[in-house]
Amino acid sequence: MADYKKYIIPHSHSLERGNRESLMGHHSKVIWFTGLSGSGKSTLAGGLEEYLHSHGIHTYILDGDNIRTGLNSDLDFSEESRTENIRRISEVSKLFVDAGIVVLSAFISPFKEDRNSAMNLVGRENFLEVYVECPLEVCEERDVKGLYKKARNGEIKNFTGISSPFEEPEDADIVINTANNSMEECLKKLVEKVEPLLQL
Ligand code: PPS
Repeated sequence: MADYKKYIIPHSHSLERGNRESLMGHHSKVIWFTGLSGSGKSTLAGGLEEYLHSHGIHTYILDGDNIRTGLNSDLDFSEESRTENIRRISEVSKLFVDAGIVVLSAFISPFKEDRNSAMNLVGRENFLEVYVECPLEVCEERDVKGLYKKARNGEIKNFTGISSPFEEPEDADIVINTANNSMEECLKKLVEKVEPLLQL
């Protein structure tokens, strides 16, 4: 352990997460969306947030492109940076859960080990992994941001699914296939699974 760490003594405050959850009127959780670029993570997180918000649930979305323009603007798409990206997001998610908020984290999070670390940090009982499943061919055909085309012609290096790996979740809590189902169907399935878990 680094020497300076010996002199950091965390403080215990009188109010705890349970107190904040009572005030909110619901449990806090991390709903962690993982999937390829263009699979529909942000759209699903946004749809779920709108639903929960309109039903009195306090939410916050943490999203790849947004966090990468602020907190994580120093990180590129190397494996090390992606791991650090997910580590920081996990810490932020943990703070939000402690604050009593339902956090919707939408990141490619391509590595199983990083997703497991996020789950362990936040706590298994507080964490729900949602695999936004969509074949690469479909994501590439959608190419909403034109990034796949750039990855194919070499303009973007280390692009997930093309020149950087995506390790598919094998035991996600929820699998939502956005290629075979409409967004409404996907959202309905998600709401059915998530909403009961938030009841006090
Ligand atoms: S990661 O792998 O979890 O660290 O990625 P994340 O923070 O979610 O950021 C993914 C968004 O960054 C854009 N982008 C790239 N994605 C993958 N690979 C490369 N090389 C890359 N460069 C830029 C892209 O818009 C991703 O957004 P989504 O919403 O996933 O399409």
